[in-house]
Amino acid sequence: MGDANTTGIARNAPTPPDSTPNKTEPELDCPSSRRSTTNKTGLSMKRRRHGAPPDSFGNRARRSPPSFHRFTARSLLKEDTLNRLLTSLALAALLLVPSIGLSQDKPAAPPQTIALLPPKLDTGTTLMQAISKRRSQREFDPAPLTQQQLSDVLWVAGGINRPETKGLTIPTAMGSKEIDLYAMLPEGIYAYDPVQHLLTLVNPGDHRAMAGKQPFAGKAPLNLFLVIDEARMRAKEAEAKQIYGAMTAAYASENVYLYCASAELATVVRGAIDVPLLSKLLKLKPTQRLYLGQSVGKALAGK
Ligand SMILES: Cc1cc2nc3c(=O)[nH]c(=O)nc-3n(C[C@H](O)[C@H](O)[C@H](O)COP(=O)(O)O)c2cc1C
Repeated sequence: MGDANTTGIARNAPTPPDSTPNKTEPELDCPSSRRSTTNKTGLSMKRRRHGAPPDSFGNRARRSPPSFHRFTARSLLKEDTLNRLLTSLALAALLLVPSIGLSQDKPAAPPQTIALLPPKLDTGTTLMQAISKRRSQREFDPAPLTQQQLSDVLWVAGGINRPETKGLTIPTAMGSKEIDLYAMLPEGIYAYDPVQHLLTLVNPGDHRAMAGKQPFAGKAPLNLFLVIDEARMRAKEAEAKQIYGAMTAAYASENVYLYCASAELATVVRGAIDVPLLSKLLKLKPTQRLYLGQSVGKALAGK
């Protein structure tokens, strides 16, 4: 009986009730069903094309014409392609929607450089009045400083006041000009270049929460960091470097105090800072040493 299925006659014999159903049931006109059939005769192919054999009542099972089958398969393929296309489009849209949302929420990239304004020399109180008003304040309005105020704070802390010799607004031991100033702004941390009177981005992002060990520091629109680069110091001994470095940082801080008193801004110098953490955020070189932080901003109303 093993070769019975290889002949058309055997295929045309009445189907025994326990025979494999797919021998008589309609098959889909698709390559897989062709591959699975054991029928190798033209007759059997014809049978498949022309419908199922009549049942015991002489009725043939209703089948679609072969062309319809092919059409259906092709349609299915087309439909499948269309479905895949639509799925891809839907996925792309899904991916796009959150990214649009994100891009709306995402803050604009901070500028690589911030050009500063020349110091405004004809403003503020007299020096004597500024000294009389100098004090530490620790409650800040988070409103940003004006560009002029930001420029002036950096200039008084370590800018150039004698361009011909590149002399600084603060004294430095043996004129070694070892101070490096960093400005932490809401949009990022910037390094001050006194020659170009310019801020250059060092570390983008809002790092104000790490500005100091006291929470008020994170509210100030500007936190200055006073850094000494020992590689530029002319003093040789480690102790001298440390003492001179602290003094240089203190001069810068005092100038900021006096400027703030004169410009009606609040400020406080801060030694309570996480030096290792901030050294990383400021991307300091091993020869650079962080001494002090100094918060600057408008005082909160009534403070
Ligand atoms: C080296 C140094 C470190 C300081 N560190 C802090 C500090 O971490 N936090 C703070 O709130 N004030 C700090 N201050 C500010 C002093 O607390 C403040 O100058 C002092 O209380 C006197 O107040 P006055 O500046 O209003 O006169 C520091 C001052 C100096 C000189």
